[in-house]
Amino acid sequence: MTHKERIFVTGAAGFIGAALCQRLLADGHTVLGIDSLNDYYDPNLKAARLVNLSEHSEQQNFTFAKIDLTDAVALNTTVRDFAPTIMVHLAAQAGVRYSLQNPHSYVQSNLVGHFNILELCRSIQSDSPDQLKHLLYASSSSVYGGNTKVPFSEADKVDNAYSLYAATKASNELMTNSYSHLFGIPASGLRFFTVYGPWGRPDMSPMLFAERILKGEPVRLFNKGDLWRDFTYVADIVEAIVRLMPAVPSREQEKPAHDVYNLGNQNPVQLFEYVDLLGEALGKEPVLDLAEWPPTEVYKTYADTSKLQAKVGWAPETSLKDGLSQFAAWYVPWYESQHG
Ligand SMILES: NC(=O)c1ccc[n+]([C@@H]2O[C@H](COP(=O)([O-])OP(=O)(O)OC[C@H]3O[C@@H](n4cnc5c(N)ncnc54)[C@H](O)[C@@H]3O)[C@@H](O)[C@H]2O)c1
Repeated sequence: MTHKERIFVTGAAGFIGAALCQRLLADGHTVLGIDSLNDYYDPNLKAARLVNLSEHSEQQNFTFAKIDLTDAVALNTTVRDFAPTIMVHLAAQAGVRYSLQNPHSYVQSNLVGHFNILELCRSIQSDSPDQLKHLLYASSSSVYGGNTKVPFSEADKVDNAYSLYAATKASNELMTNSYSHLFGIPASGLRFFTVYGPWGRPDMSPMLFAERILKGEPVRLFNKGDLWRDFTYVADIVEAIVRLMPAVPSREQEKPAHDVYNLGNQNPVQLFEYVDLLGEALGKEPVLDLAEWPPTEVYKTYADTSKLQAKVGWAPETSLKDGLSQFAAWYVPWYESQHG
């Protein structure tokens, strides 16, 4: 994208949000990032991601504001002042398992928060109809819920959510579709499939497993490691988002200007191989705890990415081996700095 945009990013201190901001700033765009900096996981990690972005604050093309999505007044004032041409809404209460412990935070951040973003788009659209070109927002592969047909395709039904997290993400897609239809907001939903890489999330398997491997503790693999998952490297995800920004969906007769895309790898890996590669990248042999297959785990999940490929010519480029070595190169010093 050669045109310089004013881009509003929510969840800017998060894993994908911070990586996206780095790329957008390097590409010369002007970025406003917001985040509540909540303590769902180590806030030091979020603060450290923001430090990485701070050199751009000095060059004045990055501004950060600590705002919670549920604070519609602060959100409106700050974002309307910034006058974004593109929005990338990534802030959310993430994590499938945590939605059993703290369902309220999913309703607040993912439903009320998403609604506030849509209302913000509506008010910008109504006052300055040509300003906001595209809203891109995070959905999740978890919307496929209990579907068993693989690869998961955007044409599949997504009415079988298995967690409140998945239900909020599927709701976000429906809410956005209605706003796109009613108020002409061009929007694209991004169904991410397990994203990994440097500066990742401590509640996800690369960091959880890496910590256990470094401590010499056993890594539990369900179905004795014979489960298949789709891992996507964070820089590939960022590339897909950047390519989608100018690919604004158009309104066609009955269809609102709203599309959803799988952002995955289309190349499932057996968990056994994944942990083996992770151990290799960390330079330490993993100790395995080969467990039975619990009913919560699906045997094989992966993305059909042909829709995104056809739209913007994107295919992930990073092999799991290369991606895990990039992850380990960041994780080992980070782990040592945290554990003395
Ligand atoms: N990482 C993945 O593999 C993955 C997979 C599927 C979907 N997603 C979705 O992608 C998006 C980004 O995920 P991530 O991995 O970067 O997660 P993350 O938790 O690292 O980032 C989300 C950020 O949003 C912020 N946030 C949460 N609630 C907020 C609120 N109410 N107001 C303002 N900020 C708030 C958090 O502080 C966090 O920094 C999320 O919507 C997530 O659900 C991620």
